[in-house]
Amino acid sequence: MIHTLADRLMSRIAYRWRSESAMKRFGIANLRVFAKRYNRWRYAQRARLHREAFTNDFPALLKQCGDGAAWPPRVQLADGWARDDSQSLPHMDRLLDAAAGIIQERGGKKHFEVQQPFLRNLLFPGDLDKAPALMDFIVSAPLLATVSQYLGTVPVLSKTLPPGLRFMESNAALDPGADGPFRESQLYHLDIHDTPLVYVLVLAQDVTEDMGPWTFLPASASARVTAKLRYQKRGSNYRLSDDEVHSAVDPKEVLRFTGKKGSVLFIDSSVCFHYGSRKAAKPRFQLMYGLTTPCRCDLFQTSWENEYPVPADAPLLRRLVTEPWRPASRK
Ligand SMILES: [Fe+2]
Repeated sequence: MIHTLADRLMSRIAYRWRSESAMKRFGIANLRVFAKRYNRWRYAQRARLHREAFTNDFPALLKQCGDGAAWPPRVQLADGWARDDSQSLPHMDRLLDAAAGIIQERGGKKHFEVQQPFLRNLLFPGDLDKAPALMDFIVSAPLLATVSQYLGTVPVLSKTLPPGLRFMESNAALDPGADGPFRESQLYHLDIHDTPLVYVLVLAQDVTEDMGPWTFLPASASARVTAKLRYQKRGSNYRLSDDEVHSAVDPKEVLRFTGKKGSVLFIDSSVCFHYGSRKAAKPRFQLMYGLTTPCRCDLFQTSWENEYPVPADAPLLRRLVTEPWRPASRK
């Protein structure tokens, strides 16, 4: 009862504090601390469940998944990121086949689910049921081992914004403002919905420099930017210009996620400055999985939860990552 009332109160400010003006006025860091504390109180039981599942006998949980994950994991994040170009992660072939089908059907067109003109989501409701490989990939044990090790707990596939899975097309040809200044996610920023967090990005086709690749700074370089610009403190902007960022780090430190189809980037985008989708002269197709800790740094969960297909008899680890937290009647 007290949780429901508190959620109702918090949901009133959930969207307001994400406005550019509120973030500048109150300071992103302060807003995140507040939301994290609220969620730690609100979801204390759930957070304990995830933490204990990780600390008590995580290798046994991995084993139950049955797809042969090593512990400690083969892929481990260092300085906020890791790449895997082995093409050997579970379900990769099926995932790329599913992605190719979606590209053929929907690529290069404008659809109703527009986010930003230069970055469009190609997934429609029902796709996760129609193409199970989209989920099978992210809930495979090797993926969850890498993410859990970094987070220090069993993660959740994002419960609200951003969705836990997006399939994004970056395409300048679909952007009426392609010749104008860079804007929104084309500018440097840190993601603010949680920290730590992990994005798992998968290239659905080969990506080259002229396709607006995901571009980032490692965590240590990003920390120098944050310190110098007092980023996320009161009065600081959410988005930063290249000049501002490069006043604190050498542009040579900037990394780009280009490579072959099936390349995977694991990145904590809450500590690694990043941007993408700049002047994608050729369309770039990239899957994006968002995983967080159980207690996020925003308040969107007070309003709604994303739903993911999860069989009732799925192994415990997969259920922890994907199952709904709220009774169906309260969604
Ligand atoms: Fe971002």
